[in-house]
Amino acid sequence: MATKHFLTLKDCTPSELKNIIERAHELKKMQHAHQPHLTAEGRVMAMIFEKSSTRTRVSFETGMAQLGGHALFLSANDTQMGRGEPIEDTAKVISSMVDIVMIRTFAHSTVETFAQSSRVPVINALTDSYHPCQLLADVQAFEEAQGSIQGKSVAWIGDGNNMCNSYINAAAQWDFELRIACPEGYDPDADLLEQHADRIVLTRSASEAANGANILVTDTWASMGQEDEKDGRSQDFAPFQVNKELMSIAAPNAVFMHCLPAYRGSEVTAEVIDHPDTSIVWQEAENRLHAQKALIEFLLNQ
Ligand code: CP
Ligand code: NVA
Repeated sequence: MATKHFLTLKDCTPSELKNIIERAHELKKMQHAHQPHLTAEGRVMAMIFEKSSTRTRVSFETGMAQLGGHALFLSANDTQMGRGEPIEDTAKVISSMVDIVMIRTFAHSTVETFAQSSRVPVINALTDSYHPCQLLADVQAFEEAQGSIQGKSVAWIGDGNNMCNSYINAAAQWDFELRIACPEGYDPDADLLEQHADRIVLTRSASEAANGANILVTDTWASMGQEDEKDGRSQDFAPFQVNKELMSIAAPNAVFMHCLPAYRGSEVTAEVIDHPDTSIVWQEAENRLHAQKALIEFLLNQ
């Protein structure tokens, strides 16, 4: 059987994703109760990072330890990848020694190329195009707050970036409506938009997207690799800030989400992100641990 990878949410069926989230809820309870769950004893994960990270590194490394396995942190600069060893060769060698691989990189084609030459499962831990692991944590956090996300309406306010593309995939996999408000020139992937036109609304107006929505979600205006564009982006995105006024036109019990790191005063005000009732960003961040442990178990058991 072909090796199962997790490069986008579309690598799983809706029912597989549902099972992963159910297991994530269970694993969270077990971890909070200090109940052992050593389902990956003796298994090793290679974690390849070509971009910075706080949550992703800590959650995968801690997750493997809690499952009884081990994780290796590999920065591209300290391996031969940074000196030009072909991705295919790296994939063959690393996957001959470890049980599972996680990669955070720039071009999405890098994880695809790696996966093609890997004999063990590969997890996309963020590329320029997608961030599927974050969506597992987001769906888990929403379910904790308000139950099933199916049929809900989600407003993505801001850049049509890797997170936005993953929200489009999530809308299809979990069956919710997605309204995307972004400035012209910052649209998400055109093919994805077209494929999912039945459930996606694209608008240039943040209030149109937010009106009556159950979730308002945003992300940084300048992703990793776009540091030089920061000033121009700040101007273009100014009308797309999630603030108290925008939250006030959402559904009465709407929640605010953000994958973090956040920049208060830019894409979101402090008042919104630090709101103790409506902001669920800390649950979202913690759930990276639980959801990815469920994902690791799922991939190792294929
Ligand atoms: N949300 C997220 O992926 O955070 P890090 O960049 O800190 O890993
Ligand atoms: N869109 C952001 C997400 C960070 C977790 C980035 O790619 O930098």
